[in-house]
Amino acid sequence: MTNNNEHSKFARALLRWHSTGGRHNLPWQKNQTAYRVWLSEIMLQQTQVKTAIPYFNKFVAKYPTISDLANADIDEILKLWEGLGYYSRARNLHKTALIVSSNFAGRFPKTIHGLMALPGIGRSTAGAILSLAFQIPTAILDGNVKRVLTRYHAIRGWPGDAKTEKKLWAFAEEYTPSLYIRNYTQAIMDLGATLCTRSNPCCSKCPLNSDCVAYNDAIVSKFPEKKEKKIKQQDLYLCVITNQENEVVLVQRAAKGIWGGLWCFPERTDGTGVNTLLESLGIGKAKKIEQLTPFNHKLSHINFKIFPILVSVTNQKKVSSSFIWQSLTEDWCVGVPKSVTKIIDILVGCKPKLLQ
Ligand code: ADE
Repeated sequence: MTNNNEHSKFARALLRWHSTGGRHNLPWQKNQTAYRVWLSEIMLQQTQVKTAIPYFNKFVAKYPTISDLANADIDEILKLWEGLGYYSRARNLHKTALIVSSNFAGRFPKTIHGLMALPGIGRSTAGAILSLAFQIPTAILDGNVKRVLTRYHAIRGWPGDAKTEKKLWAFAEEYTPSLYIRNYTQAIMDLGATLCTRSNPCCSKCPLNSDCVAYNDAIVSKFPEKKEKKIKQQDLYLCVITNQENEVVLVQRAAKGIWGGLWCFPERTDGTGVNTLLESLGIGKAKKIEQLTPFNHKLSHINFKIFPILVSVTNQKKVSSSFIWQSLTEDWCVGVPKSVTKIIDILVGCKPKLLQ
C-alpha cells in the first residue's frame, strides 16, 4: 500500500479522473452504511449495475436494516431476488444477516478476516466493504479491476488462475492508497466498467493510458487472456465394413452430439465384437479383419485417437434403413466428417488390396 503522503502515480491519476469521469449517483453511494454497501456488493458480484439498481431499491425499501432482513422469511427473500440469478447469493445474504444480527449486534466486523468468515463474502467483497463503508484502506480485485490491472501490466494468463490472481492481488495492494480510499475504490471499479471495458475499450480517454503496457504496445484486445480450454481425450473404434465391390458401410449419426446427422463408419464400442456389430446391422459374418493404422484427430474440444479396422464381408444385405453402402470409386453425395475422409485416405493405400 502506498503511504499517506505518497500516492502512487496510478492512484493519483485515478483519483483525479474520478471527480469528473466516475459514477456519483448510484443508489448505494448514498448513505454508505455497511449494510447498504454489503447488499449492493453481493448483488453486483454477478450482475451488472443497471440490472442491480431496481433490486437494490426494492430490498432497502422492504428491509431498511440488517435485522429486518434477518427476520424475513427466506422464501420471501428468494421471491424478491427472483430474476437476479445465482440464488445461493440470496441464501448467503440471509445467513449473514442472521449472524451479524445475532452475534455482532447488527454491526459488521471491521476486519478482513471477520468479514470473510461470513457466508458469501470473499476477499474482494470484504475489501469493498472495508474501503467503501468504513474507509479502511483495503485492496479489491473484482472482474473490472482484474481487467484494468491485467492490461496496465500486460499480465499473461487467465486472471482466474491462482498464479495470475496472486500477481494481480499484489498490484491491487500496491496501488491501494492510504487516503481517499472510498473514491479510489469507486474509481477503479468505474474505470473498468465504463472505459476499460471488455470489448471496445475507450483507451484515448483513460487516465492510465500513458503507463498502460497493453495500450502502448497496441495489444489491449489480447488482455485479459481467456481460460485455457480443457481438451478431452477420447478413443474411437471405427469399423470399415467393405465388400467385394469396393463399397463401404456408412451409418447416419444421431442429430445431437458429435458429427450430428453426418454419415460415418459404424462405431464399435468397447466390448462389442465385430460379428455382433455385423449381426446388429444384418450383415453376414466377417471374412477377414485387419487393423488399420490408428491416428489422432483433433476437434476444438476433443482429441480423438481413432482405431479403424477393415472388415471384409461376402454375404451382405444390400438395402437397409439403418445403413448405406457407398462405393469407394464414386463420388459421395452424403455428408461425412473429416475423420471419415482421413480413413478413406488410409484405405487408398490399401487400394490394390481393396480393388482386387
Ligand atoms: N461493481 C461492484 N461494486 C460496485 C460499486 N460499488 N459500484 C459500481 N459498480 C460496482
